Amino acid sequence: MKGIIIAIDGHSSCGKSTLARGLANALDYVYIDSGAMYRMVTLYLQRQGIGPEQNELLREALQEIELSFGPGNRAVLNGEDVESEIRSMAVSRQVSHVAALPEVRRFLVVQQRSLAGHQGAVMDGRDIGSVVFPRAQLKIFLTADAGVRARRRYLELRERGMEADFDQVSENLRARDRIDSTRKDSPLIQASDAVRLDNTNMDAEETLAVALALARIRIRKNATEDR
Ligand code: CDP
Repeated sequence: MKGIIIAIDGHSSCGKSTLARGLANALDYVYIDSGAMYRMVTLYLQRQGIGPEQNELLREALQEIELSFGPGNRAVLNGEDVESEIRSMAVSRQVSHVAALPEVRRFLVVQQRSLAGHQGAVMDGRDIGSVVFPRAQLKIFLTADAGVRARRRYLELRERGMEADFDQVSENLRARDRIDSTRKDSPLIQASDAVRLDNTNMDAEETLAVALALARIRIRKNATEDR
């Protein structure tokens, strides 16, 4: 059966990546973490000491960046595994400022579209259903209570063995949500045809079960329409 595109958008840390990965596994689809791509660009700029306002340097820097995903979807920047480093608070503090730059968005959206290719794909981010794949057959807008999201991210960082301060994590999520929702280029919005899913009181498994049921309906519908 031909694969569909599943777009998952929503606020910071509500489990988009966990859901997207679970769906991709269950359906044998490609999973693309678009947030990791913004994080990799941010890390590269930080390492070069380039600020978001340095337009000329930014343009040159983008030409030097090669992004890919290794086994287990690990983020790879110019051949180096940076999976852990891109999840650090240092990158989290800067990423929304970098992601607000139209130049950076243009650079990444082209790559996101080509990574999905022609097979089934699940991509999570902020503008996947609204900008990257406006014709995605299934769009999910995932959200959850802010306190619950902060707790989840705090525990996730601790599990990865990273330093984490609950108040800093919580403040970072709030700041990113605000910047992501109010930027001019491709703000975080719920597409009019997206299904809203609030998983405040659901665990990862329950969230996946709901999304998988929705996906199977859309996949069948898509196959019927294609005939
Ligand atoms: O994992 P979390 O939900 O905290 O964030 P992420 O998916 O890793 O994305 C990090 C940041 O990248 C977001 O806060 C946005 O500023 C930006 N982003 C974006 O602008 N557009 C996307 N499609 C994905 C991420």
